[in-house]
Amino acid sequence: MKSENLYDSDLELRQYQNAKVDLPVDRQFAVGGNLSVNGLKSSTLGIAAGLTILSGVSVASTAANDKINLALIGCGGRGRGVIAGFKSRKDTNIAYCCDVDKKRGESAAVKFNAKYAENMQTVFDDKSVDAVICATPDHWHSLCTFRAIQAGKDVYVEKPVSHNAFEGQKCIEAARKYNRIVQHGTQNRSAPYNIAAKKYIEDGRLGNIHLCRVYNMKKWGGLRIKKGEKTPENFNYDLWLGPAPNREYSSSIVYGGWHQLWDFSAGDMADDGVHQLDLARWLIGKEIPKSAYATGGIFSRKDDSQTPDTLVATYDYDDLTFVFELALYPEYMQKIGDRNSDIFPVWQNCATRIEIFGTKGLMVVGRHGGGWQVFDRPKNREPVVKAEQHGRVPEQEHWENFIQCIRSRSVKDLNADIEKAHRSTMLVHYATMSLLTGSAKLEINTNDGTIKNNPDAMKLWKREYRKQYEITENV
Ligand SMILES: NC(=O)c1ccc[n+]([C@@H]2O[C@H](COP(=O)([O-])OP(=O)(O)OC[C@H]3O[C@@H](n4cnc5c(N)ncnc54)[C@H](O)[C@@H]3O)[C@@H](O)[C@H]2O)c1
Repeated sequence: MKSENLYDSDLELRQYQNAKVDLPVDRQFAVGGNLSVNGLKSSTLGIAAGLTILSGVSVASTAANDKINLALIGCGGRGRGVIAGFKSRKDTNIAYCCDVDKKRGESAAVKFNAKYAENMQTVFDDKSVDAVICATPDHWHSLCTFRAIQAGKDVYVEKPVSHNAFEGQKCIEAARKYNRIVQHGTQNRSAPYNIAAKKYIEDGRLGNIHLCRVYNMKKWGGLRIKKGEKTPENFNYDLWLGPAPNREYSSSIVYGGWHQLWDFSAGDMADDGVHQLDLARWLIGKEIPKSAYATGGIFSRKDDSQTPDTLVATYDYDDLTFVFELALYPEYMQKIGDRNSDIFPVWQNCATRIEIFGTKGLMVVGRHGGGWQVFDRPKNREPVVKAEQHGRVPEQEHWENFIQCIRSRSVKDLNADIEKAHRSTMLVHYATMSLLTGSAKLEINTNDGTIKNNPDAMKLWKREYRKQYEITENV
């Protein structure tokens, strides 16, 4: 099973924290810089509208007794990585590590010097907790967020924010009603190199953009469901299932295989793909598409997976066509490689790249580091680079932005607010709705994102929630 966790150990986290951040200025296009880019002068650039870039004042410098009390919900690899990041700050305290798997939760609690809770409700009931980090499997993200908000907590929710359109919408309504700060784990919006890329586009340097291609191409683990297993004594399987329908316990599902089953996930488009979708959508500044269409299936795998291993989705934004392509068998593709170096990926083999075709150039962007380059027409079979910037994985920046917004209460300064998260995650849901209704072309109401004249697709707008695990109409 694949592992995407950034920090598998404290050592890795420390290496990230110590990583060099100065970039070579050659051909560099920087926010705030005034650099010559292959003859193309970049003006002194401000901060792109609507973005928060780190100011010199960090909340990490606030008084120790003014610490933000955090709780981790879901102590798998990702949850432990994120909480290690917050633990390394001076301005946060880790109050709880919550997991339905007692062994995992208790060991995390010992490691991070926190209390253990089996049920997230214990965390929500504790008035001393300011904010929660939700790093459960995907089918729990919205329900956890919804309940946390109602209990008055701020939330850092891992991507994808929702398992269906309805619950994402309800999380936005709840966040606004209870005035909560909700940051989504799409950290690429907090990367200085991506902010610079957005500025480059907004300055018109790429010309008019009519095509954007988003890739998600890599070898990804399959699923063979083990049968006849007993639920381990210290594992609350009913809580693990939560809103999803009841089914026999299988360790192969709860330890990673859930990604491949529709009841828990929408596959790797929702898992990894949503990072690139979100980054691309933000870079080109688009919201709700006019239509969406997806085709694909399981062509390569011969196992128990349900979610596609091959998928192409096309979205219509008037004069811009937005394409997402996924293949989960190409071993020859690589994500970014070293996420903290000044080396560009081998773009044609980069599994998680974005290509933005402007009338004045082609911008290729990597996520989680990788940087970006703008290519002009080659002359002698050598690439001609007009502008470029190296990039680093932007975890710390994203967490910093969350903490700053908890203190300021300023939703508009959140880099990945719940509403932005929902818009990007909807691109996943449209693809799923199209695919599961025989690759229907979905016509979309651009005011509210609902689907026109297709009751079958609209049936997938919301799931059937298991009793006691409902997200209600009434927030
Ligand atoms: N932003 C990123 O870069 C990034 C990277 C990796 C993973 N993720 C996301 O983080 C999430 C977690 O990923 P993971 O690989 O750690 O998954 P995982 O399945 O290994 O871990 C999830 C943990 O949540 C626990 N859990 C399940 N239901 C729970 C509940 N109701 N209450 C408390 N705990 C519960 C499980 O027992 C498990 O320990 C996924 O949604 C994934 O997409 C994000």
